[in-house]
Amino acid sequence: MSSIFHDEPEESAVDQDMPEAWPQDDGGTAGQGNPPLVDLRDVTRTVLLPDDEQLHILRGIDLQIRVGDHTAIVGRSGCGKSTLLNILGLLDSPTTGTMAFEGRPVAKLGNNARAKMRGASIGFVFQQFNLLPGRSALENVMTPLMYGTAKEFWQRNKIAMDMLDRVGLAARAATQPHMLSGGEQQRVAIARALVRRPRLILADEPTGALDVETGQAVMDLLDTIATESGAALVTITHDLNVAARARTRYRLDTGVLSMDASAEPDLVAVGA
Ligand SMILES: Nc1ncnc2c1ncn2[C@@H]1O[C@H](COP(=O)(O)OP(=O)(O)OP(=O)(O)O)[C@@H](O)[C@H]1O
Ligand SMILES: [Mg+2]
Repeated sequence: MSSIFHDEPEESAVDQDMPEAWPQDDGGTAGQGNPPLVDLRDVTRTVLLPDDEQLHILRGIDLQIRVGDHTAIVGRSGCGKSTLLNILGLLDSPTTGTMAFEGRPVAKLGNNARAKMRGASIGFVFQQFNLLPGRSALENVMTPLMYGTAKEFWQRNKIAMDMLDRVGLAARAATQPHMLSGGEQQRVAIARALVRRPRLILADEPTGALDVETGQAVMDLLDTIATESGAALVTITHDLNVAARARTRYRLDTGVLSMDASAEPDLVAVGA
């Protein structure tokens, strides 16, 4: 199996805007002594509705994600899962409370630094794949490398091709998304999410548009590649079988996060 992770880490485009040195990789261990990759303290998200009512979507979320963690968050439709994921992915900001990414308070970052941090350190996988139509699988996977380091840019073809090979789709590199099955499209989306070796992978219902068997294969791939790269994986799902694969499970209920005490230990074996 070829390694997707091109050898030496190089200077990151992120560093230029960052106030401190980029922390060293802890080799995928739980990172005792290191700050969590993501640290949310008493985070709320409130929006003002047109009738001047306040909608409290997230209420006092405490959540720590460490390098190497595989975390699932389950909850009913409308309970705030995507809102939480958007905050974890630096796409949205807490209304109150604090968030730190690799020990840095995110509130202090400007838009530029935030976008660079997101591009270099976070990979997103969505339910509807969100691939660019009219572009080949290879072009889709190459896209994030256009905004990467100089080395990533110049070697984008090879890096993206290696990544497509890793998800088993090298032979379909020239194929456009509409010619691929749902499972194949999600594998391309995973390749695109991981091509810059993000430290945090955020998956919002990654199996929601797939049949059970294909969904399990996609989750196997996501779990394996996240483990290989030492990244943290956070999966949001309605599917208890998908949630059961994660080592840490939370339940989100009308904006309140709690450890999932109802998770049956037996379920952990499902699909493993
Ligand atoms: N910007 C906004 N303005 C108004 N309401 C919002 C906004 N963003 C989210 N909401 C509301 O907040 C609630 C939570 O939304 P969110 O998308 O986080 O839910 P979810 O748990 O991801 O749901 P689903 O499982 O259906 O995707 C919903 O009722 C939604 O309508
Ligand atoms: Mg959602």
